[in-house]
Amino acid sequence: MPDTHTKTAIVTGASRGIGAEIAKALAGDGFAVVVNYAHSADKAEALVGEIEAKGGRAVALRADLAAPDGAKALFDGAEAAFGSVDILVNNAGIMQLAPIAETGDAMLDAHLATNLAGPFRTMREAAKRLKDGGRIINFSSSVVGLYQPTYGAYVATKAAIEALTKVLAKELGPRGITVNAVAPGPVATELFLSDKSEELVARIAGMNPFGRLGEPVDIARVVRFLASEDSGWINAQTIRVNGGMV
Ligand SMILES: NC(=O)c1ccc[n+]([C@@H]2O[C@H](COP(=O)([O-])OP(=O)(O)OC[C@H]3O[C@@H](n4cnc5c(N)ncnc54)[C@H](OP(=O)(O)O)[C@@H]3O)[C@@H](O)[C@H]2O)c1
Repeated sequence: MPDTHTKTAIVTGASRGIGAEIAKALAGDGFAVVVNYAHSADKAEALVGEIEAKGGRAVALRADLAAPDGAKALFDGAEAAFGSVDILVNNAGIMQLAPIAETGDAMLDAHLATNLAGPFRTMREAAKRLKDGGRIINFSSSVVGLYQPTYGAYVATKAAIEALTKVLAKELGPRGITVNAVAPGPVATELFLSDKSEELVARIAGMNPFGRLGEPVDIARVVRFLASEDSGWINAQTIRVNGGMV
């Protein structure tokens, strides 16, 4: 029998990295959490175990959000588990780097499918199915604003997410649903660290006044606030969470 009283949050891409930290934070705040993943079943199940061991409620749901039916399947599964959905955190994403001249169609298509079409479809489901007064928190990147070489495919999807955030905020405002985005700077996760030399990581870490990489918890704290009642008058914004990397 689904629980219709506890508020429910879907966190896409929550098996590891920033999403896993967000899932833990929201579970700690009393949300029933849907831990979405595409491949990392073991990590997602382990995270659910960790949340439950602390008295929280969570379920792991596999849904490949790059596939056209992924978003609907995810919401169907979330409603079956917890009755209804209050919060959508659109965190799942990929990043590969190459100059535009060397960006092949497969790489471009993967970014468009995972980072743009996927969140578009979860936003569409949320627009139809989120409870009034809910929250949508999208994921951009501080690369939007910096526009560095090799980030072409990635930044195109993230700039589009910032645009969609503003449009959907206007569409859902009358129902008391806020739509915001966070735009992290470099965070120490697999997405950022893979394929980078220690020297390059150190150079990028030096691009903010704190001289360090962000940690997943730096981002999760902001998402936690945006998911809370206290953020109700913040709408259609992109918050750059990057320690001052401008
Ligand atoms: N790390 C950074 O420096 C940084 C900076 C700015 C913005 N961001 C953004 O922050 C978000 C999280 O990044 P992260 O660093 O935590 O990445 P990560 O450590 O690589 O984790 C990515 C997560 O997304 C999931 N995922 C990937 N493709 C998916 C798909 N098709 N369907 C469902 N889930 C999928 C992965 O699940 P599986 O393991 O199951 O595939 C994993 O849980 C992304 O939107 C990223 O663009 C990150």
